[in-house]
Amino acid sequence: MTIHVRAPGRVNLIGDHTDYTGGMVMPMTIDRWTEIRGVPADNISLRSENESQPAELGLQIDDPQHVEPPWAKYVAGVVAELQPYGGIHGTIVTDIPIGAGLSSSAALELAVALALGFEGDATTLAQLCRRAEIRASGVPCGIMDQLVIAAGQANRALLIDCGDVTVEPVPIPDDVEVVVQFVAHRVLVSSAYAKRVAECERAEAEIGPLRNATLHDTLSITDPVIRARAQHVVSENERVREFAQLLAGGDLAAAGVLMVASHNSLRDLYLTSTPVMDAAVEHLLQQRGVYGARMTGGGFGGCVVALTEPGALDDGWIVRAVDGAHRVS
Ligand code: GLA
Repeated sequence: MTIHVRAPGRVNLIGDHTDYTGGMVMPMTIDRWTEIRGVPADNISLRSENESQPAELGLQIDDPQHVEPPWAKYVAGVVAELQPYGGIHGTIVTDIPIGAGLSSSAALELAVALALGFEGDATTLAQLCRRAEIRASGVPCGIMDQLVIAAGQANRALLIDCGDVTVEPVPIPDDVEVVVQFVAHRVLVSSAYAKRVAECERAEAEIGPLRNATLHDTLSITDPVIRARAQHVVSENERVREFAQLLAGGDLAAAGVLMVASHNSLRDLYLTSTPVMDAAVEHLLQQRGVYGARMTGGGFGGCVVALTEPGALDDGWIVRAVDGAHRVS
């Protein structure tokens, strides 16, 4: 009996740093995968072609953060949350770039959970893997990455309400390309990310849940930094809703304008962009056939994403949305 599972990476079209306040996001899966092949065993032994050391683990894990080598923490996080009956001996192959902001860690978590026999729906799988990520990395991430990888659909982006945890697939028009460009490896990600989460909690202590707040509500926040963070989140939620309608209606020019507004908000109010990412977006916007472009994901490096006419760009990866994580056998 062999086990074979695959989980894709993801790119976020719009809606960053909103998920952990129960806000709106609109990511899609990409046609790059992490695959695990193996056989059932009493413990876990996984080799990855990208890593010099294997993940060798028992099935009882107390603290995933102390597991070595570092990549094995994500495997351990899933084992700690899933508490599987059996293990696996096998290999991991991936073409998702590691540490590039395309959710290689979430893809690994989902693949491991399925390989270890997870049974249940996409939302439960995503919630389990989100808890695994938090235990493994110590970063208080939201649910976007795990949920889009669990619930992804071919040729569709997902409009996700991270408060209700509801997913609405939105067809990506045929006459558009989604292009991802890698800009730089991410630095300072975990500390800066946790700081943003804490800043949103401070905003919510003053004006209540950001998912229900208006821009007018944010004006009463006394600290200007906290006010700026809240204004990003509130305006970004609104942009995501509008973007979903525009994409579904094929108004790509207007959708692109919202992507640029999202980038500018992350750059000016949320401070998660970097000068090289800003320059990459500027460069993209100067090219013919580009409707919009923005940084994508957690920021502080990673990738930029553009919405373009077919064939508009020579560099970058044209990505296609694919079905979410699944067992192949
Ligand atoms: C990372 C996190 C997600 C989300 C994004 C920013 O990818 O894992 O939960 O917060 O950053 O939108």
